[in-house]
Amino acid sequence: MIDRNTDYGRLVVGEKMDLFAEAVRLVVTHHQQNQSPNFTWAFTGGSTPQAWYDWAAATDAIPSEVLMHTHFTVSDERCVPLSSEDSNFGNAERKLLAPAEIPVEHRHPWVVAYEPEAAAEAYRRTMQLLNPPGKAYDACFLGMGDDAHTASFFPGSPLLGADGDLFFAAIDTPQKGWRLTVTPTGLRASGLIVVMALGAGKAPALKRVFEGDEALADVPAKVLGTCAEKTVWLVDHAAAADLTG
Ligand code: 6PG
Repeated sequence: MIDRNTDYGRLVVGEKMDLFAEAVRLVVTHHQQNQSPNFTWAFTGGSTPQAWYDWAAATDAIPSEVLMHTHFTVSDERCVPLSSEDSNFGNAERKLLAPAEIPVEHRHPWVVAYEPEAAAEAYRRTMQLLNPPGKAYDACFLGMGDDAHTASFFPGSPLLGADGDLFFAAIDTPQKGWRLTVTPTGLRASGLIVVMALGAGKAPALKRVFEGDEALADVPAKVLGTCAEKTVWLVDHAAAADLTG
């Protein structure tokens, strides 16, 4: 595996299954090193985490002492019922948390039944109860879209300019509707960030993040440059194909 430090975090390039295992290893190590009374682990949305859940459930990849002593959530969410296939938490629950018999009191979905602003406020309160002041999550998974968005920071997102120093927010996104999301401040207040980007479709966006000179507003995943020391990118060979550095 290629493994090097960059301005946007540690970049690990390898085979998909090795990257899936590395994601677990990173979180398990962080869990061992940070004896948080309530270790919080946020998953994310999209197709990549769903493949990872299937793999993790089928291989029992996550050690039971981590599974049983972790509070699970998602770092961003669409305003749809948990039963929807578009629900990020719903997918995590169906594919991993329920099969692993995670206690319901360790499952923390965004309250999508509320109006978006109220849902974000309710989530802030839940996370405040779980985390010490100043911490958003212990471990946070992210993906990256073909347009270089991450979490729910799409190109032009006002959250990239000013997020009010809040860790979590509701944001009305053109063409996407309301989203609930960790903010850039919330990412900086997390212990470990793992970004998975797989497949040739991600190659142009990765090139724009790591080697382009466009503004943050146009390439939202560049925001990870503000927390590079805690960020690890897990990227397969197809996604890394355009990188020259
Ligand atoms: C979501 C996300 C989003 C996602 C990327 C990558 O809810 O869609 O959180 O940021 O991580 O779009 O998605 P893929 O894994 O499908 O490429």
